[in-house]
Amino acid sequence: MDAAEFRRRGKEMVDLVADYIENIEKRQVYPDVQPGYLRALIPEEAPEEPEMYEDLVRDIERVIMPGVTHWHSPYFYAYFPTANSFPAMLADMLSGAIGCIGFSWAASPACTELETVMLDWLGKMLRLPEEFLAGTEGKGGGVIQGTASEATLVALLAARSRMIKLIQADFPDRPEADIVSKLVAYSSEQAHSSVERAGLIGGVRMRKIPTDDKFAVRGEALRRVLKEDKAAGLIPFYFCATLGTTPSCAFDCIAELGPICNSERIWMHIDAAYAGSAFICPEFRPLLNGVEFADSFNFNPHKWLLVNFDCSTMWVKSRSDIIGAFKMDPLYLKHEHQESGLVTDYRHWQIPLGRRFRSLKMWFVFRLYGVRGLQAYIRKHVKLAKEFESYVRSDQRFEISADVVLGLVCFRLKGSNELNETLLKKINAARRIHLVPCQLAGEFVLRFAVCARTTESRHVQEAWGHVSQLASEALKEVPH
Ligand SMILES: Cc1ncc(COP(=O)(O)O)c(C=O)c1O
Repeated sequence: MDAAEFRRRGKEMVDLVADYIENIEKRQVYPDVQPGYLRALIPEEAPEEPEMYEDLVRDIERVIMPGVTHWHSPYFYAYFPTANSFPAMLADMLSGAIGCIGFSWAASPACTELETVMLDWLGKMLRLPEEFLAGTEGKGGGVIQGTASEATLVALLAARSRMIKLIQADFPDRPEADIVSKLVAYSSEQAHSSVERAGLIGGVRMRKIPTDDKFAVRGEALRRVLKEDKAAGLIPFYFCATLGTTPSCAFDCIAELGPICNSERIWMHIDAAYAGSAFICPEFRPLLNGVEFADSFNFNPHKWLLVNFDCSTMWVKSRSDIIGAFKMDPLYLKHEHQESGLVTDYRHWQIPLGRRFRSLKMWFVFRLYGVRGLQAYIRKHVKLAKEFESYVRSDQRFEISADVVLGLVCFRLKGSNELNETLLKKINAARRIHLVPCQLAGEFVLRFAVCARTTESRHVQEAWGHVSQLASEALKEVPH
């Protein structure tokens, strides 16, 4: 394909994408295919000779679309949202074209510098304490990680390294292996599975802290566990707080937990993967109060801030803690400015070496929506969730299982888990909307997360009508 053909095909592709998004609600949100469906539709081997572009495009509908779960359909209410906007898609095209691998400042200065400034822009939108921003006198700054899971892991590894240094400063002869064998990390029992996984990868003990009746970790619960573990000779070093838990969007009490972590030299990381985007709205910003006690904070603009995957933003108060944990400096990666103190080399902030020019997506989205546009988007989703909540509350057969704070509604039929499992099976088998469940206090609960950019009140009404009708069927079938 030469540049002339690329111009033509590119324009066609933009039309294809715009048609897909504009007409997405006409597609069945969840596919009908069985495992292995795709292998039978394409050849066993790559073609020896080049094929025709038209044939390839035709295969998108034949091979790919039948197996797509349409995350951007206004009938998709599962998991949490994944962002999608036209400005971000255009920026991604440009990022693909520039195609740089921005592991150091010298590897592509614009890639590094735009990222640093975008993280400051976003940090200011969130009213993060100045210490987290790079363009200040402080020692902090931000970085784009691929996912929240990576941010949690990077923070845990940095915390591990910091604690080893702290202990060895007092006891230089204490072997690292001995310290590591005593380290213990903590998170809420409601934390995302990626937190436990970070503990497994980091080779440290991980303990889950029980939550209160709002599914939040309170200071007292952490204090109790710390007392036990310290008495057992363990070394607490890391606490991952969640703001907006995956099951129910609960908020750990970071204003209580932070001071405890600070006084115990425990690294407090905040995982706000979904909820973080909402903090750009002044009315939701109080949920972030206590961030001043954190060592690191992360959320996913690729979930709810219209920046397509992947873009998981992470800020640290002390750059040197994170850089110091992972530094490797082979000759072929060095450059003349690296010790100047004027540049950032993001390879030291992350696990992989390579990194795409992801900040372009933030730049396009922030400039073309403006903070007001982004706030309006968040508010619209929260309003739609409240609308769904009001339908649930108006039906005596149902109950709400957790406070509806942002765009997630946890609800269930009053009755057994079996009844609710039957309802969910019916909903997903009908494939008109798509939901996933969660477990809260031993109960099987349905999660209704407002996800797509194109979701409107009429879709929510329709979704409720559908749920309500299938509830009648489930109630007839299952004794309750
Ligand atoms: C609270 C929380 N943390 C972490 C994650 C994992 O996010 P990622 O896919 O960016 O690793 C999720 C995903 O929904 C989440 O809800």
